[in-house]
Amino acid sequence: MEDLFDGSRKDSLRLQMLGWGDKLSAVFIAAIELGLFTKVSQGAHTLADIARALDITELNARRIVETCAAMDLLRREGDAFVNAPDVERYLVEGRSSYQGAWFQWWRKKDPCDWNHLADYLRRTGPTRVLGEEYVAHTVEDAREFHEGMFAVGMGAAHLFHRSVDVSQRKLILDLGGGSGHYCIVAAQKYPEIRGIIFDLPPVVEVTREYVAQCGQSDRISAQAGDFTRDPYPPGADVVLFNGNGTQYAPEMLQSIIRKAYEAMAEDGEMHIIFEMMDDDRAGPVNAALFGLFETFMSSQGQGHSAAEVKRYMEAAGFVDVGIHNFIDKYIRRVTGYKRAG
Ligand SMILES: C[S@@+](CC[C@H](N)C(=O)[O-])C[C@H]1O[C@@H](n2cnc3c(N)ncnc32)[C@H](O)[C@@H]1O
Repeated sequence: MEDLFDGSRKDSLRLQMLGWGDKLSAVFIAAIELGLFTKVSQGAHTLADIARALDITELNARRIVETCAAMDLLRREGDAFVNAPDVERYLVEGRSSYQGAWFQWWRKKDPCDWNHLADYLRRTGPTRVLGEEYVAHTVEDAREFHEGMFAVGMGAAHLFHRSVDVSQRKLILDLGGGSGHYCIVAAQKYPEIRGIIFDLPPVVEVTREYVAQCGQSDRISAQAGDFTRDPYPPGADVVLFNGNGTQYAPEMLQSIIRKAYEAMAEDGEMHIIFEMMDDDRAGPVNAALFGLFETFMSSQGQGHSAAEVKRYMEAAGFVDVGIHNFIDKYIRRVTGYKRAG
């Protein structure tokens, strides 16, 4: 698969594959929608088993299964097919790690008109601080988005709390905390810690539902506000700002970090996690793509490198600022500390 995307090819195969890229995504979503990976996990391994389990013809089963196998979503073992490890972990329905809803949201509800990206790129009109996606958000939109996001977020939150020890901390402020997963996992791990999720008004209604569902309403609260404009709740000794970098311009990111520094407790720590560019801005592609996404939002959002985020934190007063790979280099964490005095 990989060599198809090698830019040094002499033929046009890579270009053909890029032109067809949306078909690969459609295959992936159809497989999720049919429940292919769930059925394979539950024991439908041959083409005949799979056709029966999905209630489709054997010819169509062969078509989708062979394409998924070519994409290494399924692996062939003789006449049988099994899920690749990441598929088995994240795309089998009924598991708490199931992320199918997230991918289906992006395919079916993505607010961006990617077929007309060139037209959006030609626009020269004014840009806004808060992207259009957020301005028009209703409670129902937020509920649909976070239904997909929650499982992904819980996975990220578990990863965060495995690599960062906040056991001695008292209060987490999660700016743009969405469904509240970082605070929920902290509260599940540490009996004393409390959390505040600060998010836009329609979102916090949904946040409260997730917090209640996880039985944490006594220790985790949700506060409505816009972190680009409103004051932050004071006194947190852990501040999180995750999944929100590319939506904002460098000056705004610096202002958010400065406000967080001023509002937080002495001796506190701040973590910023999102898709950051390499220092030479040559990649990774997901970080560049999230910056590009903001074209549709008429926002000032763009990619930021990890070194830039580190500089923003140091300029605000944070010390011992370090850059860490969170999910390889594709999602990074920049962490800094406020020192008393
Ligand atoms: C991509 S989600 C990330 C959720 C979570 N922080 C995470 O990393 O998993 C972005 C969240 O930030 C919130 N958000 C974005 N801009 C905001 C703003 N200006 N003020 C408050 N919340 C904001 C969104 O409503 C959404 O819930």
